[in-house]
Formats: sequence, C-alpha cells, structure tokens
Amino acid sequence: MILVFLGPPGSGKGTQAKKLKSEVGFLHISTGDLLREAVKKGTELGKRAKEYMERGELVPDDLIIALIEEVMPKEGGFILDGFPRTVAQAIALERMLKKHGKELSKVMLFEISEDSVVDRLSGRLTCLSCGAVYHIRYNPPKQEGVCDLCGGKLVQREDDKEEVIRKRFRVYKEQTEPLVEFYKERNRLTSLDATQSMEEVNRQLLEVIRDGG
Ligand code: AP5
Repeated sequence: MILVFLGPPGSGKGTQAKKLKSEVGFLHISTGDLLREAVKKGTELGKRAKEYMERGELVPDDLIIALIEEVMPKEGGFILDGFPRTVAQAIALERMLKKHGKELSKVMLFEISEDSVVDRLSGRLTCLSCGAVYHIRYNPPKQEGVCDLCGGKLVQREDDKEEVIRKRFRVYKEQTEPLVEFYKERNRLTSLDATQSMEEVNRQLLEVIRDGG
C-alpha cells in the first residue's frame, strides 16, 4: 500500500505514521524529517531549505521533488507524511509512481482546527537524537526533558512558536488544501477527525489498511 498523510501542521500525521511503522512495518517517509536532517548535516539542500522552514513557508517544489525521487523505494509499501503539499508536487508524485508501475492507494486527510493545532504544537517536544515526538500534556515523556526511547534531549522545534505555527497553518490553507479537491476527483480521499484521541485515530487508520485502502 502507498498512503499519503495530508493535513495541517500538528494534526498528528507524524505521530500516526511512526505508530504504523512499528505496528505494521510501513516505511515512513517524512519530508519534514528529511529536511531537518539535511539542515543538521549542513548539506546543500539543508542550506537552501533552512530559511523557508524557519519562516514557516514551503521549500520550493523542485528541491522537494528531487528529494522524493531520491528516496522513494522501488519495492514495498510506504507512507508519505507531508508530501505532496502543492498541486505541482502531487502531479510529480503521480508521474514517479507511474514510472515504477505503482499507484497511490489512499490519501488520509487529518482534519483539525487552527486553535487545536496551536495548542498541540506549542506543547510539542521532539527528541534531538531520534526524532521521537511527545506532548507536555497529551503524551508526556516518563522523565521530563528526556526521550523514553533513546535517552536523548527533548526540545521545542524552532518553527513551533505561535506566530510561525499560525503562518504554517495559513500556508497550508492556501497552498496545500487545494489537494483535497485534487484527490477527491481521483476518488482517493478518506477524511478522519484528527481531534480524536491518538488511539482512536490509530484504530481508524488500521481499519482502512485492513480493508486494503
Ligand atoms: P513538517 O515537519 O512536515 O511539519 P508539518 O506538516 O507542519 O507537520 P508537523 O510535523 O508540525 O505535524 P504533524 O501533523 O506531524 O503532527 P505530530 O504528529 O508531530 O514540515 C516542516 C517544514 O518543512 C514545513 O513548514 C516546510 O517548510 C518544510 N516542508 C516539509 N515538507 C515539505 C513539502 N512537501 N514541500 C515544501 N516544504 C516542505 O503531532 C503534533 C503534536 O500533537 C505532538 O506533540 C503530538 O504528541 C500531539 N498529538 C498528536 N496526535 C494527537 C492526538 N490525537 N491528541 C492529542 N495530541 C496529539
């Protein structure tokens, strides 16, 4: 199966993709994680992407499409988390999949309001070492500031400040939301209420996967 997780920042895409990776072994491809890794390593891509990310804007399509072309597996199923985010990226994805004789199984739309997103992202903590995600109230680590999985240091992401969160939400509405129509027309879209508990969202995703997308 090839799934796309579509939704505003903070709607829980990464949390659920990581859960499904451990539960059903799906490969998790997150453009946000790949870009943060590139910034950390100081690669050419990282240098070009950094300022866009800090401002809460989208990184240019050509850079993102080249990145996905590089990492897309030729065999097996995977979850695309945070890609595509523009119509140009969605068209490029169709072309890439066709080249490998594949097609998209389903696009899961995580629906949530702007205020819930601000509440979630201003309390998010991310592990500097392994990228695990926590929340100060909804999913706290066992020991304050320390990752349960690897013992790494938990920090707030640079772009998780309220003004940047609201900007990211606006960017989502303007540039990414048109994909809802794009995938509705292709009969690929399934919506889910992302304000439900993590367990309930996970249960609904597993149901979709069990039904074969
Ligand atoms: P990216 O890292 O993709 O950020 P995003 O889409 O803004 O998504 P987030 O990681 O913020 O949220 P999420 O939906 O994964 O939520 P999470 O599970 O962490 O992108 C960052 C930047 O990179 C972009 O701004 C852009 O510059 C660039 N970029 C990336 N991809 C690009 C592309 N394709 N094109 C161009 N530019 C691109 O959950 C959030 C919090 O809520 C956590 O604390 C979690 O514990 C908590 N939580 C999760 N689920 C629940 C629940 N059900 N109940 C209560 N709390 C919950």
